[in-house]
Amino acid sequence: MSCPVFKAVIPAAGFGTRMLPFTKAVPKELIPLVDTPVLQYVVEEAVAAGATDILVIISSGKEALKHHFEPAVELEKRLKESGKTALFDRMLNLNKLAKLTFVYQHELDGLGGAVRLAENFAGTDPCMVLLGDCVMDSFSELPVIGQLLKVYEQYHSSVIALSEVPPEKISSYGIAAGTLINGDILRLHDLVEKPSAADAPGNLAVAARYVFTPGIFSALHKITRGVNNEFQLTDAVKLLMASEAVYGCRISGKRYDLGSIAGFIAANVEFALRRPELQEVLGRQIINILKEKNIL
Ligand code: G1P
Repeated sequence: MSCPVFKAVIPAAGFGTRMLPFTKAVPKELIPLVDTPVLQYVVEEAVAAGATDILVIISSGKEALKHHFEPAVELEKRLKESGKTALFDRMLNLNKLAKLTFVYQHELDGLGGAVRLAENFAGTDPCMVLLGDCVMDSFSELPVIGQLLKVYEQYHSSVIALSEVPPEKISSYGIAAGTLINGDILRLHDLVEKPSAADAPGNLAVAARYVFTPGIFSALHKITRGVNNEFQLTDAVKLLMASEAVYGCRISGKRYDLGSIAGFIAANVEFALRRPELQEVLGRQIINILKEKNIL
């Protein structure tokens, strides 16, 4: 059966304050994982799950995100002439596979405010939402957003990616609670944005990927400002639960938070070690550094 969800929204408007000074002039979504920017992985994940129409929500000063997917005639010519086209082809193919559009979030009033801007784009269709600063590595043959789409196809309801977090990380995430109904699928009954560990309804954190029915937009219009005085997507999902079933899916995969310095460096080491041409030489260098620092 062909995938009924073909639209994807990628919010990428926020400041990358945790990665300053780098992110003063360069969008955090262009931080590289080895040699490929984070946003490209996110777009590739959506495309692999069947997205053909992708809306990227940016803010003023983040036009480089757009440029990354635009044709670069001179560069392409140069690479063709020198026979180095593989990586460039990967970028161009992405552009051919999906129609990418960009819209500005003028007031940075939160993730809820960003997703609300996708209302016309989504229309009466369901849509995927993938946070643009977060790379997900799937442990199954389906990309993480594809795992959520499978649940959507079964229940025709909104689905949220969940993964367990330790108590000290609870206050950094949206935390969900629900009734386990089938394998890793929960029918959600509670969702709280960035609670303290003591107030949290559990330890299942919202993990940067969602599939929504169009009902999310009326909920986004009804919410008021929440945590950090921002419109929180979490609050809209909680409201949606009052009128529609919302499911959570414990994902089979790993989430890479490229917005934190430790997360960014560790992810780069991990992804680089997967490359056969880098594995041995980089592995040896890391071991030497750890020995020099008396860590190993
Ligand atoms: C956002 C969401 C939060 C979610 C997190 C990771 O928070 O508001 O519910 O758990 O992404 O997906 P942020 O990291 O933007 O503060």
